[in-house]
Amino acid sequence: MTDKPFGVNLTFLPTVSSPDYPGYIRAILDGGIKAVETAGNNPQKWLPALHEAGVKVIHKCTSVRHALKAESIGCDAVSVDGFECGGHPGEDDVPNFILLPRAAEELKIPFVASGGMADGRSLVAALALGAEGMNMGTRFIATREAPVHENVKQAIVAASELDTRLVMRPLRNTERVLKNAAVERLIEKERALGAALKFDDIIEEVAGVYPKIMREGAMDAGAWSCGMVAGLINDVPTVKQLIDRIMREAEEIIGQRLARFAAR
Ligand SMILES: Cc1cc2nc3c(=O)[nH]c(=O)nc-3n(C[C@H](O)[C@H](O)[C@H](O)COP(=O)(O)O)c2cc1C
Repeated sequence: MTDKPFGVNLTFLPTVSSPDYPGYIRAILDGGIKAVETAGNNPQKWLPALHEAGVKVIHKCTSVRHALKAESIGCDAVSVDGFECGGHPGEDDVPNFILLPRAAEELKIPFVASGGMADGRSLVAALALGAEGMNMGTRFIATREAPVHENVKQAIVAASELDTRLVMRPLRNTERVLKNAAVERLIEKERALGAALKFDDIIEEVAGVYPKIMREGAMDAGAWSCGMVAGLINDVPTVKQLIDRIMREAEEIIGQRLARFAAR
């Protein structure tokens, strides 16, 4: 779909020794991928092969201490995900208005802001808080090209900023998801079982549900990641329309609103 360079996400599940990872790394190298966003676990083991091939590694972090660790092992950049993000926000619950400037205070390598980013306002704010740019998860899913069922896109458009829930906190695997019948059931189990909750208790709501939701559009099939930023998403544009709009809005804010401020 593009002749421009692009990056891929490589999420290390808790089993870092998964036999699949060498295959993923090989596909990245053979595919001529220029940048990889690693997430979920320490990517150190895979850095030499990726770097040798000239691949830039951006590690996704939800805390300053993890970002500093990524810097110390040689990652090229980090993506800093605040508490508002869709997916796994970690366990510290620090929103981006605090997390990004804290990251800027501590890091030497560049970082992008992630979590809650949707439009030109987000981009200008991210730059103001010290980031070099922004990453968008939920916003990109509600685009024409995103290879997910139309029901998913419409669910994001319909959702407000109040419609996400945090699940799996008792397992220290917190995930921000869109509320639905399965999520309500999952939360009820978490309430009832408290500290005794095991992964097996909620397996029906979280394991193997993505294909049903994303491909078949079965919106109540389980818990799926979605950010609070859904409250700012009201349409399903093409990626080009979205990016052009973001850049236009950002330029307007900087050239007019912020320029007026600077001229006072
Ligand atoms: C449906 C969905 C699936 C995601 N899956 C992954 C994943 O497999 N690995 C990962 O590192 N991040 C994953 N994320 C998180 C995004 O990469 C990104 O960090 C996050 O969505 C940013 O927050 P935002 O949704 O507010 O933009 C997912 C997010 C969503 C919404």
